Amino acid sequence: KETKNQMLVIFGASGDLTARKLIPSLFNLYVAKQLPKNFVVLGASRSNLSDGEFRKKVVYESPYLKSKIEDLKENYVKGFADMLFYEDLGDDYTKNYERLSKRIAKLNDTNGTENNYMFYLSTPPSLYEPIAKNLADAGLSSQEEGWKRLIVEKPFGYSLETAKELNKGLQKYFNESQIYRIDHYLGKETVQNLLVTRFSNSIFEPLWNRNYIHHVEITNAESVGVEKRGGYYDKSGALRDMFQNHLLQIVSLVVMEPPIGNEPEDIRNEKVKALKSLRIMKDDESLFENTIRAQYVASEINGEKIKGYREEDGVDPNSTTETYAAVKFFVDNWRWKDVPFYVRTAKRMPTKVTEVIIHFKTPHHQIFKDSGLSSKDNKLIIRIQPDEGILIKFGVKVPGQGFKVERANLDFYYSSLAETYVMEAYERLLLDAMQGDATLYARADEVEAAWEFVDPILDYWKNGKDIRMYGYAAGVWGPENADELIDDLGFWRNPGQN
Ligand code: BG6
Repeated sequence: KETKNQMLVIFGASGDLTARKLIPSLFNLYVAKQLPKNFVVLGASRSNLSDGEFRKKVVYESPYLKSKIEDLKENYVKGFADMLFYEDLGDDYTKNYERLSKRIAKLNDTNGTENNYMFYLSTPPSLYEPIAKNLADAGLSSQEEGWKRLIVEKPFGYSLETAKELNKGLQKYFNESQIYRIDHYLGKETVQNLLVTRFSNSIFEPLWNRNYIHHVEITNAESVGVEKRGGYYDKSGALRDMFQNHLLQIVSLVVMEPPIGNEPEDIRNEKVKALKSLRIMKDDESLFENTIRAQYVASEINGEKIKGYREEDGVDPNSTTETYAAVKFFVDNWRWKDVPFYVRTAKRMPTKVTEVIIHFKTPHHQIFKDSGLSSKDNKLIIRIQPDEGILIKFGVKVPGQGFKVERANLDFYYSSLAETYVMEAYERLLLDAMQGDATLYARADEVEAAWEFVDPILDYWKNGKDIRMYGYAAGVWGPENADELIDDLGFWRNPGQN
């Protein structure tokens, strides 16, 4: 695909995401010769910085700028830094657009970016709509000359209602086809590989349904706590921070029907359909039975004291925000009827890991009864991160007399594709947007369908009478009560277990 000459304007350019993710990703794209010939980055923010100071902050003195080809890094740094510019927007992102648009026009003229502008909003969400409006008022959303695109960071809304308002608000100034809602999980190779695993092989898809699958489990665990983001996190919680977006994106790729092709809308249409088929829990009874929330409490790991969530900076000491969320749900469609899905996400777990586990049913008629294996032993484990890969567990005969069966592994590691350069999520997503490919970006109806499912849970957790907030120590797999969610199985499969 072609990457046209263009300018990337980053709102929130003095923030953390720009320094940590955006600039390093652009640098890697630059080193990998993926940027167009004429390319300019204009940082815009509330800090008072000159071009030189901005370059110093995000390039020359940045601890985050790393090159995959480290010894060549020095050769590229200056060339890259020279493409970066900065504009001070004053104190609240609502003024100075005339100056901004003049600056853009001037940079466009001197650098040959052909009026193609991508606006990246990495600001507090309350500013998304005002910025979009100001851009449109300044004539910067019109595609009469060159294209204009808007990339929006998460969180996309706080609830179904606010997400709808935001969609409506942005669509007043930009067409849906110009809006790119980023979900960095979609930039992960292993998440995209869910599509390839399912739809480029003939050995999985025939089994991918209620006839053969007993249940689906998804675990997303982080070992870190809320770190320096207590203020943000306390208003968000695990369900909003991870589940509504990243995990439901993974769910939609596991659940969806085969798309008719691989055009962006082919895939996005199927994902929306998948999300719309999640059974929404409406009554308190099912919400009580099928959801668990918890917070990490003060604890100790190897003698090191770990703060409890409520003691973290920026967190209300009486906070009822969850750092652990587990949800059981069903998918009401032909393929998935009655197959339970168990999804959990949490901070302060024993390790950082994301896995999708497809548990297959026991064979209809078992002839090797003394196998010593429990039922449901066929599993397909998709390791999203780390140790990216796919693991199949199946029974094999133990050599010797009789028919003793043991569990064996067929294990594929992405790292075995050694020569392949694997792009980081943000590199891939930025490049896609630069090329106008929205496949890996969430569409308005997709985001709303996800909120539709999550809203009643949030509401129940806020107002429900019986719902409890469990506690768990740092470094354990969440509260024991979460095992009760997995009815007849009785426990979650913790990553690394047999
Ligand atoms: C972000 C969340 O979207 O994803 C963070 O806001 C979380 O709380 C992060 O830590 C996890 O991303 P990854 O790619 O490290 O799994």
